[in-house]
Amino acid sequence: MHEIVAKQELAPNTHLVRVRAPLIARKRKAGQFVIVMVDKQSERVPLTIVDSDPQEGTITLVFQAVGKSTMRLAQLQVGEAVSDIAGPLGKPTHIENFGLCIVLGGGYGVAPVVPIARALAEAGNRVVAINGARTKEAVILVDELEKFCERVEICTDDGTLGHHGMVTAVLETLLGEYGQVDFVLAIGPAPMMRAVANMTKPLAIPTMVSLNPIMVDGTGMCGGCRVDVGGERKFACVDGPEFDGHLVDFDKLMARQKVYREFEGEARLQYEHSCKLNLPQKE
Ligand SMILES: Cc1cc2nc3c(=O)[nH]c(=O)nc-3n(C[C@H](O)[C@H](O)[C@H](O)COP(=O)(O)OP(=O)(O)OC[C@H]3O[C@@H](n4cnc5c(N)ncnc54)[C@H](O)[C@@H]3O)c2cc1C
Ligand code: FES
Repeated sequence: MHEIVAKQELAPNTHLVRVRAPLIARKRKAGQFVIVMVDKQSERVPLTIVDSDPQEGTITLVFQAVGKSTMRLAQLQVGEAVSDIAGPLGKPTHIENFGLCIVLGGGYGVAPVVPIARALAEAGNRVVAINGARTKEAVILVDELEKFCERVEICTDDGTLGHHGMVTAVLETLLGEYGQVDFVLAIGPAPMMRAVANMTKPLAIPTMVSLNPIMVDGTGMCGGCRVDVGGERKFACVDGPEFDGHLVDFDKLMARQKVYREFEGEARLQYEHSCKLNLPQKE
């Protein structure tokens, strides 16, 4: 069992939890993830390790409560525990001194960007961040990014904070402004990562994206997370989750992400219904 030692709602429906997992806290590197089972009957949920404290023996996770399992996780309070955490999984981000790096996070994809921005800065890179969300209330972790980035540009789809528009519009401006950009990293919804990769490909800027296909075991055994990269079949859990954005077949990724949508919607409805039934009834 893994005790929750801290919990915070960063934005409506977006939660940060610090969970006790001493072995993972000691070993994990930027870009790696864990698979969490809230209880023994629960689904396995892959979540990026955003931070760790080896002394305290904790890891930090940030997640949006979008379905049955993440809603269950969001309901747990400090002092309660999740049943199982497997990890660290996946390959750590390849970090080197590239020069000028632009990192982009869309929605709660900003969370996995933070440890990578930090690792890039520690390797001597200049790091500029673009933090995009639908609206002001959904913008998260700006202070965290500012610790490691020389500049953080915020944008919102509705214009309530920062630039009005998508992360790609800000990227276009920055590419023009800086002239030479040596490395780009984008994490967020697949259409966003595809848009970024399409923009940097003609400029030949090395661009990494972090893929989030459906995962089950996280060990390369089930085949659930297969993705096509450069015409080759890869497993995001063991070969990734980061890949060369110019080589990813995003159409196939998005088609596979939709496969279980109907079942997930059903599970969520059933869960919400059972939660309501368990509420204390009024006299
Ligand atoms: C490696 C990785 C790790 C992840 N780890 C976690 C995790 O730990 N916890 C978790 O809960 N989820 C995780 N995810 C899921 C991922 O962050 C979400 O799918 C994503 O952020 C969706 O957020 P949203 O619904 O708020 O997006 P939206 O609000 O739909 O979009 C967010 C922003 O993305 C940009 N954008 C969207 N569409 C486009 C487009 N077509 N073109 C250009 N820009 C666009 C916009 O700027 C927009 O403001 C992870 C994903 C990846 C890739
Ligand atoms: S999650 Fe099963 S092969 Fe990757």
